[in-house]
Amino acid sequence: MIYDFDKPIDRSQSDSIKWKAYPKDVLPLWIADTDFEVAPEIIAAIQERMNHPVFGYGVDNPELIETVCERMKRQYAWEVKAEEVTLVAGIVSGYNYACRAFVNPGRSVLIQTPAYPPFFTGPTNNRVGSVFNPLIYNLETSRYEIDFNDFEAKIVSGKVGMFILCNPQNPTGRVFNESELRRMAQICLDHDVTIVSDEIHAEIIYSGEKHIPIASLSPEIAAHSVTLIAPSKTFNIPGLSCSVAIIQDEKLRETYRTAMMGFSSGVSLLSQYGGLAAYRQGGEWLRQMNAYLESNRDFVYQTISAELPEVRQTKIQGTFLAWLDFSDTKISADPASFFLEKAKVALNEGKTFGAQYGGFTRLNFGTNRARLSQALERMVGAFRKL
Ligand SMILES: Cc1ncc(COP(=O)(O)O)c(C=O)c1O
Repeated sequence: MIYDFDKPIDRSQSDSIKWKAYPKDVLPLWIADTDFEVAPEIIAAIQERMNHPVFGYGVDNPELIETVCERMKRQYAWEVKAEEVTLVAGIVSGYNYACRAFVNPGRSVLIQTPAYPPFFTGPTNNRVGSVFNPLIYNLETSRYEIDFNDFEAKIVSGKVGMFILCNPQNPTGRVFNESELRRMAQICLDHDVTIVSDEIHAEIIYSGEKHIPIASLSPEIAAHSVTLIAPSKTFNIPGLSCSVAIIQDEKLRETYRTAMMGFSSGVSLLSQYGGLAAYRQGGEWLRQMNAYLESNRDFVYQTISAELPEVRQTKIQGTFLAWLDFSDTKISADPASFFLEKAKVALNEGKTFGAQYGGFTRLNFGTNRARLSQALERMVGAFRKL
């Protein structure tokens, strides 16, 4: 079956936060969901469950858990057992439970910046500290890379108990390679730091790239790791809040589950049916969506290179997000506000990813090409009028 990602889906009348936050004349390219219709199999699975007239408390669906294990094995040759899987109602919640579970008072969470904004609030919600390891932009590769000396120094000076890794990285689009992952993991192991790896974007990666779950690299790394994954970004069902924490070490897992207790009512029944159908039947849809997103990625890159050459871009290896640096332009003070006001395009403000990124914006290219093209045209037009 050919899925039509060009189909213009009108979300402006729906309950979408992306489309409701701004006036109707604004094209929203901010919060990270896509405008694509989900695979019909997902809708059918939820509808089928609705034929049963009772929606009582459910079990954690063993088929979903088994499907997660099979998926890890098939995609990454990573052996995960059913008892190592915990269902979690959202990755941000999963991260907050980890802050609660693994970071004692007086200790900190290590966060790489620019960072997905809720990473900053996990530690404060849990009354522990945060320390930052800024990623460094490499002009030659157009990629953000890790400053390992700073990484280790911050772990020591910041009394770090937990490292939140984001791989693939939001907002820079990096997919970390094996040697980078091994080096970060070794430093964490040397200092007894628990690794929480947010891999929500793992399955949206582009030609020639390979995602490696950090915990799959060795049993020693796995024993110090929590891996957070979800069908949400991959299959455009983030509103269902169906996510998974994989924790192979029994003690770590028990600590985590204890920290969750009473704070989470689990993943809702209907979400589990949606997540299961996505993982089981969404393969071809995903393959086609990734091809579509890859051409959108290239389109954004080419358009900005040609029309706004003073803007610095990154080589996006994964995610449907572009991290654009306007620091050397006339709108460096607040590019997102400029485009909202003058181009009627809503982007994410750079400063929400870290105080030093005020000159940046994040653009979500997970939409149909016509809309993306219109948004870029408006942005270029507004910029040229300066
Ligand atoms: C890195 C990262 N983690 C987590 C989330 C959100 O996860 P959830 O909606 O399951 O809490 C996002 C969404 O943009 C994200 O980019």
